[in-house]
Amino acid sequence: MTKSIKWWQKAVVYQVYPRSFQDTNGDGVGDLKGIEQRLDYIKKLGADVIWLNPVYASPDKDNGYDISDYEDINSKFGTMADFDSLLAKAHEKGIKVLMDLVVNHTSDQHRWFIESRSSKDNDKRDFYIWRDPVDGHEPNNWGSFFSGPAWKFDDKTGQYYLHLFVEGQPDLNWANPTVRESVFNMMNFWVDKGIDGFRMDVISLISKPDGLPDGEVPEGAQYGNSDKAVANGPHVHEYLKEMRQKVLNRADMMTVGEASGVNIENAVKYANQDNSELNMVFQFEHMGLDNNPNPALGKWYDKKVSLVDLKANLSKWQNHLAEKAWNSLYWDNHDQPRAVSRYGSDRPEYRVVSAKMVATLLHFMQGTPYIYQGEEIGMTNAYNLQRDDFDDVEIKNAFKYLVDKDHLVDEATMLKYVHAKGRDNARTPMQWNDSKNAGFTTGLPWLKMNDNYLTINVKNTLADPNSVFYYYQKLIRLRHELPIITTGTYQLLDPNDEQVYAYRRVSADEELLIINNFTNETITRDYQVPANATILIGNYEDDAKSTLRPYEAKVYHFVK
Ligand code: NOJ
Repeated sequence: MTKSIKWWQKAVVYQVYPRSFQDTNGDGVGDLKGIEQRLDYIKKLGADVIWLNPVYASPDKDNGYDISDYEDINSKFGTMADFDSLLAKAHEKGIKVLMDLVVNHTSDQHRWFIESRSSKDNDKRDFYIWRDPVDGHEPNNWGSFFSGPAWKFDDKTGQYYLHLFVEGQPDLNWANPTVRESVFNMMNFWVDKGIDGFRMDVISLISKPDGLPDGEVPEGAQYGNSDKAVANGPHVHEYLKEMRQKVLNRADMMTVGEASGVNIENAVKYANQDNSELNMVFQFEHMGLDNNPNPALGKWYDKKVSLVDLKANLSKWQNHLAEKAWNSLYWDNHDQPRAVSRYGSDRPEYRVVSAKMVATLLHFMQGTPYIYQGEEIGMTNAYNLQRDDFDDVEIKNAFKYLVDKDHLVDEATMLKYVHAKGRDNARTPMQWNDSKNAGFTTGLPWLKMNDNYLTINVKNTLADPNSVFYYYQKLIRLRHELPIITTGTYQLLDPNDEQVYAYRRVSADEELLIINNFTNETITRDYQVPANATILIGNYEDDAKSTLRPYEAKVYHFVK
């Protein structure tokens, strides 16, 4: 790599889901004061940046992703003074803060939408996407990402409005220059506060295709696939360039665009190193590899990903973006199940070792790694939650539409799928210790706790020098210390090996060899490790050379 390294290319991000991190006032919901209290924990881990999920005023139809006032704080989380204090304390400790930016849609309680829906000639009417019925039906066949149609009929004015997510999340009309100006002004309010960047929610969807044509309907499904129909619309790059000039260039910011429907070709445009748009994107291809073979069921499935497919996909991103753009590296977040449950094994005998393996695989790749709260202690999916316990609107809609209405799958099967893939797996509160409600709250938690908190918690992990936490701490330290992790060339080994994911990172004078046994079996592989190689990190105490024990991960370092 010839270009100079930017601070965010060496950084590791820790994602905080505020609602589930730490409650301080006993209302059962995490808050900003709670995050401030836990900054030393994040500092101890070594992360450079916190990404905060939305903390803005919201009726919480989609847990804060439906914003009713972009310049106010959700009272459940505290006040603007609490936010200012958190930002100042984080900066004092050398931690940067990335805010979530949700501007594909607002809440239907946002004053812009309240005005827009009030009459056809209101000056905010064109802030949103309104259309007349076609033959008494929706204007096109698009489905909402969370099941059901993407259009809602509004009696008052006799038109439909578009909502790619839930009804309470009407889509903004980015084609309207006043909308863009209003969004950029709002972003500048936060830039002026001194925040360090934005994670941009579904930013690949902001430009809608001309004429809003029907999407292709997957076999067995009710609605057109909005992702394919809408993502990467004709003006998205133009809008982001404008945002870059009017907002992002005002400070040395970090930006990551959540980009469903993005492939390597358009990722290179979004995250081009010419600094004209964003720094990196969250791509979703690897998240879709374990989807249901029935497209009508989308992500709802419980089979593990094929390692060969995973390797092919991640390697494609590593190779294609090198020198051109920049990767984000993630296994999980507030929308995905827990990494150890999905890619490793959460059976007690393998949980710790496989959580470390999964971490090793990701943290030696090129890109900026994201750690989702609890991942660093090996938190698992929440199998104790039943249908009535779920809070997430995506899960509720899946039961409502796919089970109850369309009978695509029975309830027991859907419950298995939700235990494998549902978003609430990641949203159960953070497990700090073994006291009541894991030290998260003295009240009633907003979402049921994962009942394994008596053993899996921060207190236990900090007391054990071999814990997942200290392994992550070391991974972060190594990334800070060894430039090859940021800049080395990626080379996949043995693409067809169904059991081991091995790759190299190569620079002019040194090399890393990263070996990950993805199975619970003891197997043998010979990678012809040079005699001068030393083990940089591994999840077993000794090096058994060509024998790989269950979920073994190790990284050799050698000078050429
Ligand atoms: C992606 C966010 O990560 C998710 O939580 C949210 O539901 C949708 N975008 C809609 O804003």
